[in-house]
Amino acid sequence: ALDPGLDLEAEIERLKRARNAVILAHYYQDSEIQDLADFVGDSLDLSRKAAATKADVIVFCGVRFMAEVAKILSPSRTVLVPDMDAGCSLESSCPPEAFKAWRAKHPGHVSLTYINCSAEVKALSDIIVTSSNAEAIIRQIPRDRPILFAPDKFLGGYLARKTGRDMVLWPGTCVVHEQFSERELVKLRMAHPKAKLAAHPECPEGILRMADHIGSTSSLIKYVSEAAEDEFIIATEPHIIHQMQKKVPHKRFIAAPGMDESCSCNACPFMALNTMEKLYLCLADMEPRIEMEEKLRRAAEKPLLRMLEMSPPAQKLAGAA
Ligand code: 13P
Ligand code: SF4
Repeated sequence: ALDPGLDLEAEIERLKRARNAVILAHYYQDSEIQDLADFVGDSLDLSRKAAATKADVIVFCGVRFMAEVAKILSPSRTVLVPDMDAGCSLESSCPPEAFKAWRAKHPGHVSLTYINCSAEVKALSDIIVTSSNAEAIIRQIPRDRPILFAPDKFLGGYLARKTGRDMVLWPGTCVVHEQFSERELVKLRMAHPKAKLAAHPECPEGILRMADHIGSTSSLIKYVSEAAEDEFIIATEPHIIHQMQKKVPHKRFIAAPGMDESCSCNACPFMALNTMEKLYLCLADMEPRIEMEEKLRRAAEKPLLRMLEMSPPAQKLAGAA
């Protein structure tokens, strides 16, 4: 067991320097991990950072598929994850064998796959997308090409409505976003009539229909930072509110309500597996680390590189360094 007197923050900083490591964190991580990270971002920003880093070691505080992307794009680096069990309900909804059979049933379709999937499913896809580049990438695909979209049916449905494209959708969902309650949200909006609703496209259609702004995590942060209003309801994983509060401390953020008020099911149970203790231990032990067969890595790299080529340039947040 860890010495309870250990100054975890100082120890993590010390080990980070000793290992020449960089700590990357997603906005859904605990606030103390976000504050300690060298870079906090959405899935696309984090992929770009991982691809460009000069550090020897990438410590990825996010879920396993994100750390896999770091390894795929930066194979010469050691990629550590605090907890190898940090999965994702979207990833597990889409097993590679079933995905392969689904593709085979739809010849002539271009296969666009959300980055929230395994390296095996990436390897079987034509182009990877994230919430922040999906629309721009779809608009570059010839109109007469039908699209297969996996594994998030809500993000896929949102994109199909937005772009007017016919898309065949894989029936996966995110356990965090699917449980926001339309009924509770209507009540909350009545109690806060001035609050704007900012929602992630992984939310069900009924929630998105009510939203004032829909976008990836970084897009939601940009929206609340730049909007004239100062009260917002946030329909995504609530750890993102930490970053919003840091950017615009005078504004007020309310987490969107779930179906069951008695639980905190809005928090992603997979992201929550990463703790400060495990972050310290992975830097001390240099494991768990992501390892991948070179054949799989190369096959998964192709649709990821296509994604990076087709992505609009990175957007700067107002007031960001
Ligand atoms: P983005 O940060 O790309 O918006 O993704 C959200 C998400 O659910 C990650 O698991
Ligand atoms: Fe997966 Fe949803 Fe958790 Fe993101 S928030 S890692 S999509 S389960």
